[in-house]
Amino acid sequence: MNLYKLLARPVLFRLPSDRAHELTIRMVSSMNNFIPITGLTGLMYKTNTPSLHQKIWGLHFPSPVGLAAGFDKNGTTLNMMEKLGFGFVEVGSITADSSLGNPKPRSFRLVEDHSLINRMGLNNDGAKTIIKRLEKVSLNIPMGINIAKTHSPKISGQTALDDYKFSYDLAKPIADYITINISCPNTEEGKTFEDPETLNRLLNYLEVGTNSSDPPVLIKVSVDGEGDQLREIIEVSESFAVSGYIATNTSSNRENLTASANTIDQIGPGGLSGRAIRDKSTEKIRLISEVTKGEKTVVGVGGIFSADDAIEKIKAGADLLQIYTGMIYEGPGIVKRINEGIAKHLKSENLDHIYQLRK
Ligand SMILES: Cc1cc2nc3c(=O)[nH]c(=O)nc-3n(C[C@H](O)[C@H](O)[C@H](O)COP(=O)(O)O)c2cc1C
Repeated sequence: MNLYKLLARPVLFRLPSDRAHELTIRMVSSMNNFIPITGLTGLMYKTNTPSLHQKIWGLHFPSPVGLAAGFDKNGTTLNMMEKLGFGFVEVGSITADSSLGNPKPRSFRLVEDHSLINRMGLNNDGAKTIIKRLEKVSLNIPMGINIAKTHSPKISGQTALDDYKFSYDLAKPIADYITINISCPNTEEGKTFEDPETLNRLLNYLEVGTNSSDPPVLIKVSVDGEGDQLREIIEVSESFAVSGYIATNTSSNRENLTASANTIDQIGPGGLSGRAIRDKSTEKIRLISEVTKGEKTVVGVGGIFSADDAIEKIKAGADLLQIYTGMIYEGPGIVKRINEGIAKHLKSENLDHIYQLRK
């Protein structure tokens, strides 16, 4: 029985989506350093399955399932996330300047589609404050930091490069890996950093791939767009020897939804996440894996709700996974259920380790 779905979800789903998230974050943050609660949470949710342990970039990942960027933008709930069984966490997106984001309401549920549309607008406390907070955090799982450009159309050209660099340089000393978010659909000026020339300039300016003591850098790509666009992004990224890719961010498309056209119109712009983007995200994972010949780490994210969804992404080439929308619909037990489901699948296929699923 899923107690979250039975008791908590009906209450949370009566609130506007962004309000429910705010309340959840506030509640979880308040428990984050309270050992009796974190301890109990660990006992209830954390699993330890050797067949799921992986060493990637020299880091130990006790589970392939990570927390996707955007859930804990300010890094205030990370102890609790570790205790829920996540194998790694990604804070952010953080931006050089703090931002309140877009006016509310800015996040909407499409319940029949098991999906969300959000236009949060990169709300966060700003890189300086967040990094200071993260300096005090001590986890037994890898912590990634996701950086984006400050949400302001006035910041462009060289100023945009400086803006990214500010967060990148602050994140470098403490991040286990850094994700460069070039695919946020919620910026007023559009997704300028997916343009290959601009991306080239950005990675060059950040000196990605030049210093072996820097943390691994991942590029987070869009679920939208043609394969050729993604191939170009990979070509540029590979010339800087990036360590991997996160596939994918949310979608600006509204195809194949059950929700009525009227509902979709009323919601307006934003990034679609959840089940509605699951298969497209898996296709992007497959493409990246093919183009990079399986030699780069791929983090698969988009519409994972179950162990079957997770296994499908691993078979398409994902080494690691992330979840956001699935947790909103399925609750905190989702991580444990997926970990246990993958382990069970390995056993039924007579496989000793998750690595073997990709072969
Ligand atoms: C409300 C919300 C806010 C998000 N904020 C960010 C963000 O700040 N940075 C980022 O890279 N991705 C962000 N994402 C995208 C997620 O990390 C993820 O890529 C996407 O939602 C697909 O995964 P899912 O279907 O499991 O949600 C956000 C997603 C949601 C739903």
